[in-house]
Order: sequence, then structure tokens, then C-alpha cells
Amino acid sequence: MLFRLISTLFTLLLSCHSIADTAEKQSGSGAVASPDQYGAAVAEQILRRGGNAVDAAIATAFTLAVTYPEAGNIGGGGFMTLWFDGKAYFLDYRETAPAAAHRDMYLDSEKQVIENLSLIGHKASGVPGTVMGLWQAHQRFGSLPWAELVKPAVHYAQSGFTVAENQYQYRADLLNQLEGKTNFADYFGTMQAGKNFRQPELAATLSRIAEHGPADFYLGETAKLLVGQMQRGGGLISMADLAGYKAGWREPVVTSWHDFQLVTTAPPSSGGIALSQLLGLKQRRAADFNGVTLNSAQYVHLMAEIAKRVYADRADYLGDPDFTTVPQQQLLDSAYLDKRAAEINPKKISVTNAIQAGLEGYHTTHFSVLDKHGNAVSNTYTLNLDYGSGVIVEGAGFLLNNEMDDFSAKAGVPNAFGVVGSDANAIAPGKRMLSSMTPSLLVKDGKVELVIGTPGGSTIFTSIFQVITNLYDFGLPLSEAVAAPRFHHQLLPKDQISMEPYAPLAAEVQTELKARGYNLVTQGWSLGDIQAIQSTGGKVTAIADPRSRGVAKVFSY
Ligand code: GLY
Repeated sequence: MLFRLISTLFTLLLSCHSIADTAEKQSGSGAVASPDQYGAAVAEQILRRGGNAVDAAIATAFTLAVTYPEAGNIGGGGFMTLWFDGKAYFLDYRETAPAAAHRDMYLDSEKQVIENLSLIGHKASGVPGTVMGLWQAHQRFGSLPWAELVKPAVHYAQSGFTVAENQYQYRADLLNQLEGKTNFADYFGTMQAGKNFRQPELAATLSRIAEHGPADFYLGETAKLLVGQMQRGGGLISMADLAGYKAGWREPVVTSWHDFQLVTTAPPSSGGIALSQLLGLKQRRAADFNGVTLNSAQYVHLMAEIAKRVYADRADYLGDPDFTTVPQQQLLDSAYLDKRAAEINPKKISVTNAIQAGLEGYHTTHFSVLDKHGNAVSNTYTLNLDYGSGVIVEGAGFLLNNEMDDFSAKAGVPNAFGVVGSDANAIAPGKRMLSSMTPSLLVKDGKVELVIGTPGGSTIFTSIFQVITNLYDFGLPLSEAVAAPRFHHQLLPKDQISMEPYAPLAAEVQTELKARGYNLVTQGWSLGDIQAIQSTGGKVTAIADPRSRGVAKVFSY
């Protein structure tokens, strides 16, 4: 399907790269790990100008909305996990379902899911949250004027940027898939790899946002253009939806892991609870991991046993906490994790159907910033799949998300990432769709030691889990921890271990896993694009995942 085809090309291209982009300097330096060179350059520029990590993050997010249009956005939403002046914060700017959305909106008269309706075109979009989220971050922590932070993005939209080979390929693939169903070709049809690409309408929109802030996007000229686009294409987002959109500060999930505090996302992200469970379960089964080689068959089996229990909980309990009661305390409770850990079978694959939720029962992008004062921003935002719904707001020049697919269109029917959901994640007006985005921090003795995140849909938190494990349980340096092969298991499809062409598991490990009963699938896309900064032992190291075109910088200023 659409996602897989796009992703196949994505991986083939990404696997040409093999060296992580790494930078290192003494502590007290500023650092950024960004999915492209423009985002990295702008973060450095803002920090050098005296801005803090939040200023740099806002400017990077707007820049990526121009230079990384396959995922960077103003038409989508995301999460920001922050450490500022010694305290943890979590900002939720996830999209919401429009007021006219309803539970069965993607089902036909036979109650079957209509293919691609939640992925392509005007009905696929939730109410965008990015502009309001970045504004809220600025209101609370920004130190440079808002307009200065939007200005670099205006520049790249007006003057253009050089199109990367892989973003050109995802766009070429999407054009084929869309077959003229949206206006995507009118805006991105002329994009050529290696050539300059300008977006004049987007430049005008960003200039209005620079001048008027979110009032333009949610009430003003941009709001009118967006709603006009919806009306022409049969979409649901109204002026009232935009006017009513709120981004919100929530309590981050904070759990203990070894000597660290893990500071991570709260619902409507599933990632923070899931990552805490993954780390907690692995710690409880530490004896099973003794002497087990990284990425050996036994290692993959143990990690899959852990992951399938976490995904069972995700499917049944997690959704927007404003609409559904998420049993967060119970899911993170030590006695509950003890009980779940005890169910793990270190020798054999647990029977899939027997794994119930335990209490009774692509394209996203990430960047990390650290300033010289130790403030940190871990930000993941998204349009959902590459270039979102493929719909551009005419006259405003920005892409809209297809985030509605992250709701459960029908209980038990997998979405584009193959994950299932239940009532907790059913569509309802104004509700936020469940996410896997997990921008996270590890904090030790009041200081940020790791800033980490990645795209990858349902593979986000298993990728972060593996990098943290590589780093702290296996003692790998950050570059190797990020570059090491990753794999993924998410309960369903039954007994499936997904690998990536970038770095598949060793042939003998694959043979052994097959003999144990696992079905090995090399999926079409890379498992994530980690952007991480580590500050430890008097040294700051930043890494952009070798799987893509990210750039990492560490600099004194
Ligand atoms: N759209 C992917 C996620 O939020 O998990």
C-alpha cells in the first residue's frame, strides 16, 4: 500500500549512507541533531545569537516546515519534551478531530474500512496544532522575538533550498500513488533532486505568522484559506475548529531507570508509557540478558517477548486522556510491571492470542537541541505519512496532515502502521488521536544527559528503547548505539520480527529465529531516524542517524 511503496524507496536510498553524522565538544557547548542541514544551521544561528534551546527549537521547526516538507510542518502537530531551568515540561500540540468527525466516518455501509480515506485527501486531516504549539513554547520560554524565529523559514521558502535525493524520491512515489487525487502535483511536481526549490505561497503564509502569530493561522487569512480548501475538497475542518484549537502543557511521564530520571511523553502519546514499560520490563528480566549478545537470536526473542506485552496494553488502554480514562499509574506501577515481567517466556514464543492487555487486559521527524545552560528540547512533529494527506492549502502553500489514520477507524483493524486500537482510540469530535511519538530526555542529578527521539510510527519507542539499551546496557558509544541494527515486534502480525534493509540481523541469527518460530520480514523502510545529543563525562556528543540525511553539530558560543 501507499505507505509501504513510499517507504521502500526511502530505505533503498537511505541505505546508501553508512556514516553517522557526529559532532563532539566539551560540556557547556550548544548542540543540535536535526534531520537536515537547514534545521541544524538555523538552530546554531539562533543559539549563537543568544537564543535559548526553545528559541532554537521554534526556529528549527519552522525551517523544517519549508526544507523538510515530507514531515516538517505547519499543517500537522507534535509533542515537545523540555528541560528548562532544572525542570521538566511536556507540550502537547497534537492535532484534533474536527467537530464534524464521527466514529464510523471511514466505514462503508457494510461497516468495512474504506481504503485510504483516512490517509489521502481532505478527510484525512486533523486540526493542525504546530503553530499554536510553537507559540505556546515561545510564550512560556522564548527569549528572542517570535518574528526573528520565523524569519529563517521565510528566507528558505522565498529563496529556496536544495532538494535532497531521498525527499525527491518519496515525492515521486507519492505522485504515482495519488494519481491526481489531490493538488500535490501542482505544488511539488516541479521539485528536482539537487535543484533549488522555492515556495512563494508558503513564504507569504510564514510572513503572516511572523507578524500576527497564531491569530493568522487560527482566525485570520491562513485560517480562511485552509477552510476554503476544505470546502472545495469535501474536508471537515471549519473556522470554529481552528478557532477552538488548544495546545496544552501536560505533566510529562517521569519514571526512574537505573540512575536516571526518564522524562518523556504523556498521553495522547503512547510512547512515554510504552518506553517506560519497555525499560522497566527489561530491567526486571536482567538475569535473562546476562551474557546474551546484542542482536543475537536470544536477544531478539527476549526483546520481542517484552514488546508484545507493551503493545497489548497500548491497543486496549491508550487514547486521548481528555476523552478516555488512561490507567497511567497502574500501567507504570512497579507491582504491575513485576507481574508482566513474570509472564515473559525466555525460551519460547508466547502464544499471541494469549497476550491480553494486562491490567485485567511514515513520515514524522524529530530534532534535539541543547543550549550551553543545559536547557534541552526534544521535539517530534508530523504530518503522519510522507507529505501527509497530499493536500496543499491553495494560496497558503502548506501541506495538511493525514493524522486521522492514527485513530482506530474500526476496533481491531490495523492502521497504516499495523497497530490496532479499541474504544479508547475511537474517533470523536475534538479528540486527539493516539500517537507513538516519544521525544524523551534522560536526566541524572538534575542535568540532562541524553536528548533523544525519532520518527517511525509504531516503531518509535522500540527504536528509542534499543538505542538506550545499546548505550547504557551494552556501553556502546552514541554513534555506534544509533548505527547498530534495529528490529521491531509489536504483537501483531503474530510472531513477526521486522528488520530493516539498512542493517539486517546477521544471517545465522535470522536462521535461529526462524527455527524458533518467528516470521522474519525485511520491511521497506528504515527503523527510525534518531537525532540524539549526549552530555556526559564533560563531553557533549550529537548524532544524526546514518539512516538519513540529518546533520549534528556541537559548538562553543
Ligand atoms: N503519526 C505517527 C504517530 O503519531 O505515531
